[in-house]
Amino acid sequence: MRARILSPTDDGRTTFHRDGVVAVDATGRIRWVGPAADHEGAISPDGGAPAVPVIDIRPLVVLPGLVDLHAHLPQLPNAGLGAGLDLLAWLRRYIFPLEQRFADEADAAALAPAVFRALASVGTTTVLAYGAVYAASMHEAFRAAERHGIRAILGKVMMDRITYDEEIEPSTILERSMRESEELCGRWHGAADGRLGYAVTPRFALSCTAEMLRASADLAERTGAWWQTHVSEDPGEIAEVGRLFPEARDYVDVYDRAGGLGPRTVLAHAVHLTDRELTRLVDTDTRVAHCPASNLFLASGIMPLARFLGAGLGIGLGSDVAGGPDPSMFSVMRVGAYAQNARRTLLGESEPSLGPLDWIRMGTLAGARALGLADRIGSIEAGKEADLIAVDAGLTAPVRHADLGAPQHEPIDDDPADIASRLIFRPHPEMVRAAWVRGRTLEGPGLAAGD
Ligand code: GUN
Ligand code: ZN
Repeated sequence: MRARILSPTDDGRTTFHRDGVVAVDATGRIRWVGPAADHEGAISPDGGAPAVPVIDIRPLVVLPGLVDLHAHLPQLPNAGLGAGLDLLAWLRRYIFPLEQRFADEADAAALAPAVFRALASVGTTTVLAYGAVYAASMHEAFRAAERHGIRAILGKVMMDRITYDEEIEPSTILERSMRESEELCGRWHGAADGRLGYAVTPRFALSCTAEMLRASADLAERTGAWWQTHVSEDPGEIAEVGRLFPEARDYVDVYDRAGGLGPRTVLAHAVHLTDRELTRLVDTDTRVAHCPASNLFLASGIMPLARFLGAGLGIGLGSDVAGGPDPSMFSVMRVGAYAQNARRTLLGESEPSLGPLDWIRMGTLAGARALGLADRIGSIEAGKEADLIAVDAGLTAPVRHADLGAPQHEPIDDDPADIASRLIFRPHPEMVRAAWVRGRTLEGPGLAAGD
């Protein structure tokens, strides 16, 4: 594929080819990437010609596929609803009743494919997501991801208190939740040749007893699955965790005592960490999904991002749909940047601000790192799997894709930071024109719709 190519690299830089080629082999791996002028003479590793013919999609920009480290599959229908409520009121009013609809397998089967198409349409090629409590709905979600082609790590939500899981006997809820999670994990973790994965998913400390947290962390440890939950999102939530877990030093300690911290764990939010909590997450190499759009939508707070990054915390980005109203990771980057600017201006913080290329890195390679997948995805480098998107960095969208032959792409500078800035701060509908996982086109973005 011939395009502008922009990517963070594993060594901490950003590469940009104004006229570049990325060659993908038949197994969906990136075989070669570099300037188009060098490609003709490039020798592929086995000495043969590139397996895929070069199609020219300039002036579109090819980026690594975006990584959404935190989303809730059943919540997309309520995106944008409930502004003005705080977290706990919003969950009760807008979210728990919505997730209950997933008790109906047919509802789940209908919604899941649409959610994956919606994610791909905004450039997300990897998602770590929560489902609902119902095991049958999770099988539907995994089947939909398997068919769609997106890279997905999913988990059945576990709750044995403050729950909507009404059908279950309180005395057997833990046992059933564990059994179903284990079955789902056994069936789906590593499926589709490693494209699908399982995340053991206790919802958060308020919805789980210490026994459930411990058993779930043990399951993740035994199976090599991920472990995901929420932490330190909202002041009211944090106070309530202190009341329910008086033996714990703080919120992070609740999960620490359960054996839940470590490099296979992704904690969403982590907005209000104390210094002790921050140090503990860094020391245990626990990963964090920063969800700035959600944190402003629900008025949860603004993470001191630069300080946490400076401390060495492993951070990627999450949409937290529907806590965040928009599944687009470009939108998450934009709100994150504005929120950090607000911190700087209001609080006079002196840490260096993040530029557009830093945000692109966080939404791609840093997310892949947080999942332990950076050896496979997150950047456009030879040997990695071809999880890519093609985006239009022009100022306006063509009205219809049929007009693609002569779109009005005004030239923007050859500076990759300008391109990243345009994509993040001046998005337009259908900006993402195609998405691929392992070189295979995903249904969702405009070009893939066939027009
Ligand atoms: N904490 C527990 N459940 C949720 C949820 O669904 N969304 C958000 N944003 N926070 C949570
Ligand atoms: Zn969430």
